[in-house]
This record gives sequence, C-alpha cells and structure tokens, in this order.
Amino acid sequence: MRVTLNFDEPLGLETPLLVLPVFKGEHALTGAAAAADRRLGGAFSRARGAGDFRGDPGDSLLFYGAESAQGGPGRFLFVGVGERDELDAEGVRQLAGRAVRGAESRSLTSLVLHLPSELPARPVLAVQVAAEGGILAAWDYRELRSGLGEEDPVSEDPRHPLVDALVLSTSAERKGSERALSIGVAFAEGENLARLLQNRPGNVATPSHLAEVALGVAREYGFTSHVLGKKELEDEGMRALLAVSAGSEEEPRLIVLEHHGGEKGDPPLALVGKGITFDSGGISIKPGLGMEEMKFDMSGAAAVLGAMQAIGALRLPLNVVAVVPSAENLLSGRATKPGDIVRARSGKTIEIINTDAEGRLVLADALSYVIEHYAPKVVVDCATLTGACLIALGNHASAVLGNDEGVIAELREAGARAGERCWPLPLWKEYRKQLESTVADLKNVGGRAAGTITAAWFLAEFVGETPWAHLDIAGTAYGDVHAPYHRKGGFGRPTRLLLEWLHARAG
Ligand code: BES
Ligand code: MN
Ligand code: ZN
Repeated sequence: MRVTLNFDEPLGLETPLLVLPVFKGEHALTGAAAAADRRLGGAFSRARGAGDFRGDPGDSLLFYGAESAQGGPGRFLFVGVGERDELDAEGVRQLAGRAVRGAESRSLTSLVLHLPSELPARPVLAVQVAAEGGILAAWDYRELRSGLGEEDPVSEDPRHPLVDALVLSTSAERKGSERALSIGVAFAEGENLARLLQNRPGNVATPSHLAEVALGVAREYGFTSHVLGKKELEDEGMRALLAVSAGSEEEPRLIVLEHHGGEKGDPPLALVGKGITFDSGGISIKPGLGMEEMKFDMSGAAAVLGAMQAIGALRLPLNVVAVVPSAENLLSGRATKPGDIVRARSGKTIEIINTDAEGRLVLADALSYVIEHYAPKVVVDCATLTGACLIALGNHASAVLGNDEGVIAELREAGARAGERCWPLPLWKEYRKQLESTVADLKNVGGRAAGTITAAWFLAEFVGETPWAHLDIAGTAYGDVHAPYHRKGGFGRPTRLLLEWLHARAG
C-alpha cells in the first residue's frame, strides 16, 4: 500500500472515504471533524446528541456526502479514539488500522485519514505510527488462494480487495512528517515481510527458502551475506543444529547478513532468530491437535529478516549482523533420539532429554557462532521457544531475559513504543541447577517448572559475558486477531520492537 501526506484542508480532497477521529466526552467538535459535521448539516452532532456515538475506541458512524458541485469526500467515517489524554502511539496505530479496515469492508481501495493537530502524541510521531497501522492493516496473506485475482468479483469471496492508497492528512511540520513517514513505512513493510514468511507453509518456507529470501534482501540493500549448508555446518562443528535437522530430508541452513552502516571497525549489534520451519517435536512428537501452527516456529527468524529489510531501507547508521539458524524438526530413522548426547559448536556436550526442546539447540550454535566470529557489542535473540511463556504471559507480552539489565530496559522501552511489549522474567542462578546432567555438561530441558527461564539459562550457557537479551515470543508471534491491524496468522511481532530498539541505538 502507498501512504502519502496531505497538508491542506481534508474536506477539499476527492476521496471515497474521509476518516475523522473523535475524542470521547468532548462537548464541542473541533477542526476537521467540526467542518465535516457542518458539511453534513449537523448530522453527526445530532447522532452524538442522541447517544449513538460515545467516542470509545472502535465506535464508528458513517455518513454520505451530499452530491454537489463542492466535490470532496464521498463518505465521512467518524471513529472514536477514547479520552484525549489517554491516546498514545498505539491508539493512533489502531485508529489507522480501523480506518483502513473501514475502507476494506466497504470494498474501497483508497481513503484519507485525518490526524488532528490536537493529538497528544507528538504530531510527527502520529504520522509514523499511523503509517504503520495503515500498512499493517492493509496487508493480507493471499498468495496461495485461487480466485482472488484483481478481476474476481468481490461477491465470490468474503474478502474484499485490499486497500492500496492511504493519505494521511496532517497539520504537522512538513520535513519532520516526511521523515516520520519513511520510518513508519520501512518498519511496517519490514513487519509485513516477517508476516509473509511466517504465513508461508512449511512445505514452501523451508530453510533453503528462508536463505533465498535473505539473499534477495541482501542483494537489494547491499548487505554482506553468507549461507552455510550442511557441509559448512559440519566444518564449523555445529552439531547441535545438525542434531535437530537429522530427521529431516530438508537441509539446514545458517543464514548470516551483515549491514555495515556504522563506523568501520565498530563492533556490530547482533540479531539472532530461531528458524525452525516446522516443529513436529521430533521423536518426542507433539500431539496432533494444532500441530499445523508449528509452521510458525520460524517467527523469530522472520522478525530478524523483516528488521534487516527495514534497516537496509532506512540505511541505519549502525553495524548489524543477523544470524538465522534454520532447520526442520522431524522424525525418521536418522532422527536424534532422547538420551543422545551431542557436542555443540562451543565444545559443551548436551544430553538431549526431549527432542522437542530443539529451538535452544539451534540457537546455542548460532549464539556461539556470532559471538566468536563477530565479537558483537550486544546480542538479542528472539524465538518461539517455550509453551511455558504462553502460560506465563499469554498473548500480550513477550518474555525478556538476559545477562544485561541495561539492554533489557532498552528492549522494554522499545517494545512499549512499538506496541509490542515485553516483560522480564528472572534469570537467577538457582534455576541453572535444573539443567544439570550426570552424563553430559547439561541437559536440554529443565523440567516443567519455570520452563521459560530454564530455556533462557540454556542459551546463557552459550553466550558467556557478551551483553545479551532473549525474547521468548511463543505467545505473541502469531494467533487470532489482537489489534485492528492484525489478522489471524503471523503478526510479524517483534519486528518493530527490534527496529525501535535499533533506531534508538542509532540515535
Ligand atoms: N516451538 C516450541 C515452543 C512453542 C510452543 C511455541 C507452543 C509456540 C507455541 C518449542 O520448540 C517446544 O516445543 N518447546 C517445548 C519445550 C519442552 C520440551 C521443554 C515446550 O514448550 O513444550
Ligand atoms: Mn519444539
Ligand atoms: Zn520449536
């Protein structure tokens, strides 16, 4: 979708739909909403007076413009945005999402959204987040559905054509708005790339497919790239990653992208994303019900690749290295078995108690790889790592754990700004005992108690002293609808959390 800015009077615009936010509980309408109401002969005021519109987020009321020589919008959609002093960036993102879905549900492919100057969020921030909400809301995963071509009549499918043009009408300052727009566009398009990869099924989005997409991004933005196949992984001694891949016919990959936007020689920030393209559990096979959702077990990888696309598009002045360990966790006569002991790249031996705890195995090798080869300033990994995280925090926050309180604090703030919150769990040393093995250096599971914490402790064993934080996104990466700019399936989280963090680091 294309997003553009308009700095003139929105009532003069030729558009099938003008969306006007209205605060709750305010007696007098102001600005564009007041002008629109006058244009409608006071119809909206009368509806408010009658109690048909309270202004809660999600409330909406549609009017048709009079046919006249005046021209202007064909429809006026008033949308509630709640109390004036409670509206934040996420509220504006959701407003834009509702606006776009309001167009989509009426089979309109373009609209104007007015961002009044009274928005408490900094006016240019409103431009960034409205672009994000709009672009995210317009996106849908349709590439494998037949009969959704452009000529197909809408009546044959419950889904409508996608909105392809959004105009943000703002009175904010022009230069700052343009910069904010380019940030919002890059962030949301990065998140949509993550969603595309997430939603692709396991028979399409294989490890080699993720590598091809990553190489495409690298070519487009001039990243240095390396893809390690089975042979190179053996040479690197990445036997924990290979152990996960052993039961599958699909070859594993280690994908590495380098963005050199910072000072030469400045140590990079490292992003690591779990790329299990399907997690059957392996020999410790999962129950069948809902197993199809395990195509989303590469959501961490998707977010990292989506973030890299945006980093490239914005030419962030940072050095960033992205590493994606990717494999399929299946079962066969060659699969790794419970009780097997493997030596990870770092030299540590791991007793594999449960082959379904595979994410930490592939991440262990990726973490030691990136730390040894790049000596990064900070490492952040994200992974759909534990079902326990979903139990602990539900769908509304990722868990964040690590060895550096400063980095954890930065990620929490970035998540709050992005509307992709994360919340800390403790990595106290007492939990480490649960991983002790009698036959190897450590076990790959630590029992039922505190599963998210013991999984993070396992990763910590392969990180050492490098400042590091881990995001467990098992509850947040995908699901049924949460925000007006989500749909069922992959949400693309935490792509924008990573981007907000990097953007703040870039200064
Ligand atoms: N990919 C799963 C975690 C997961 C579960 C993500 C549900 C999203 C929704 C991971 O590989 C896994 O299977 N973890 C096990 C670990 C256990 C064997 C210690 C789990 O959480 O059950
Ligand atoms: Mn698993
Ligand atoms: Zn998994």
